[in-house]
Amino acid sequence: MARKIIIDCDPGIDDAAALCMALFAESLDVVAVTAVEGNVTCDCANTNLQTIIEQLDPPKIPRLGMASPNKSSNYRPATHIHGMDGLGDAGLAKVTHHHSHPSEKILLDEIRSHPGEISILCLGPLTNIARVLKRDPDISTSIREVIMMGGSVSAGGNITPTAEFNMYCDPHSAAQVFESDIPKTLVPLDVTQRIGLTLDFLDNLPGEWDRRGALLRKILPSLYRAYHNELGQESINLHDAVAVLWVLMPDLFESTVMAGKVETTGEHTRGATIFDRRNQRQWHRNVEVVIDVDVNAAIGAMQRILNK
Ligand code: RIB
Ligand code: CA
Repeated sequence: MARKIIIDCDPGIDDAAALCMALFAESLDVVAVTAVEGNVTCDCANTNLQTIIEQLDPPKIPRLGMASPNKSSNYRPATHIHGMDGLGDAGLAKVTHHHSHPSEKILLDEIRSHPGEISILCLGPLTNIARVLKRDPDISTSIREVIMMGGSVSAGGNITPTAEFNMYCDPHSAAQVFESDIPKTLVPLDVTQRIGLTLDFLDNLPGEWDRRGALLRKILPSLYRAYHNELGQESINLHDAVAVLWVLMPDLFESTVMAGKVETTGEHTRGATIFDRRNQRQWHRNVEVVIDVDVNAAIGAMQRILNK
């Protein structure tokens, strides 16, 4: 039986790569994909999500949820990495339908329809998950698990010296999700930043005849340029695709249960994920954290999955 999953994302080029892996995985039943404001504004995330689904035309079209504004004062788009349109300014024909529902409504509907069965893979800020908990505090007992790409244990930040982007964009929502009793897994920068994809990865993608290859060959080149120009890196990190890889092949990774919280007020530390690793730990352990990965095996697996 395929695992029921909802993907909450802020597309975003690496979000698009993650969808290329998840939407064609036979072991996953992606019942919905919901948009959240993060890499791009909510309107852009909504358009990009619909555009990606149109481009990929996956075997099963998921329900789509639409993002609405993230009211956190910390929010700013990551157009310096993902381009002004969030998909590498690659000239994709943009798609917008008007019949989609708000992301939090789609999430609530699907969780209530399949109590205990839905895994939620969060690839952007945790705004929608916090909204779901606010609308129905008891819903946490019906969610199988939440898997979050984000945070950092010992890898520092990427949007500030201390904070990873998804947590930074909406730290209050992230703190609420960390404090909830939903079974949680975190896929932090500590592993996603170690998987550096050189231009060989682009060359090894399927050809234009494959919808995933066609999309990724259009949007990835600008990410290589952005990583070179903005980050001084000659390889890219597809953070969200690594989170999907953890879902599909957890044996390539190591994880451990930790006691984590999200900073919401520090001038220099807002959005930082903090872990209590004292011998006499006082915080309760609340999150499975992925702390190691077989890098070469992971790169090979990502290539095989995208070529399958
Ligand atoms: O810090 C990396 C994360 O922030 C990824 O999910 C990327 O898409 C952005 O949302
Ligand atoms: Ca993302």
